Amino acid sequence: MLALKLKDIIFKNPIMVASGTFGYGNEASDVVDLSKFGGIITKSVTRYPREGNPPPRICEVSSGMLNSIGLANVGVEDYVQEKIPFLNKINSNVIINIAGTKVEDYIETLEILETASGNHVGYEINISCPNVKEGGLEFGVSSKLTKSLTKELRLRTKKLLIMKLSPNVTSISEIAQAAQEGGADAVSAINTLVGMAIDINSRKPKLSTNLGGLSGPCIKPVALANIFKLYKSLDIPIIGIGGISNDRDVLEFLLAGASLVQLGTINYKYPNLVASIPQAMEEYFNLNDINDINEIIGALRLDD
Ligand code: DHB
Repeated sequence: MLALKLKDIIFKNPIMVASGTFGYGNEASDVVDLSKFGGIITKSVTRYPREGNPPPRICEVSSGMLNSIGLANVGVEDYVQEKIPFLNKINSNVIINIAGTKVEDYIETLEILETASGNHVGYEINISCPNVKEGGLEFGVSSKLTKSLTKELRLRTKKLLIMKLSPNVTSISEIAQAAQEGGADAVSAINTLVGMAIDINSRKPKLSTNLGGLSGPCIKPVALANIFKLYKSLDIPIIGIGGISNDRDVLEFLLAGASLVQLGTINYKYPNLVASIPQAMEEYFNLNDINDINEIIGALRLDD
């Protein structure tokens, strides 16, 4: 009842974990049953290793958190050696998140992953990181760059291609349409909002980079508004992200038009939550006589 298809890929349920909040699946595998997950999006991988930003790079704020990790990761070559073997054992859909600062970085990273013997079903392309000085977000704020990057990647893979959108733009629908025209199979939205926190005693910003990405329950209404706008302007499916913390939140996102969702910040507090949400949703489906998840995607009731 909760299963659905995205392109030719079957998802056992629509609940996935967001990039950066579950590592490469291995850290929590002793305490969490990953096979209950609809999918796992791995922490961004880049063409070359990155140390990321200096600490402090995480801080808690009201109803959420700020982070400026700076895309710290081992780089795609080590990723293929060290991470793919574990990812291949996961009984769930693995989607690899790729980030970059230049078009060539994204292309080369994807090409290396295409030739690795990974069981991953697709790629989520991070064009919306707020924490790197060059590139990253630059793509996500330009329809032209988004379309050309999507096209280049589309030429090189038949796997799922998902473009992850930034809310830090004038019109998210325009960027999403550019991704659609470039050949993306879906978009995911929203990535973090630019935010800041200040320590009044030291009078210093709480993050070393001053600004960071805001996530958690505080961004849920912003995310829902963006999903609502995207659903009206797109033909391809939307993957909803932004402060989802329980089964009722998931249902709100589906009603607004998301086909699947990703849980992020809440995983730090309750790593087992994702595994428990499908059952709670089944109960809502039974109570409301819903037989197929597609019946509630975008089924928001609006006054004319
Ligand atoms: C990072 C990347 C993101 O896409 C984001 O939203 C927040 C942080 C990072 O690695 O810094």
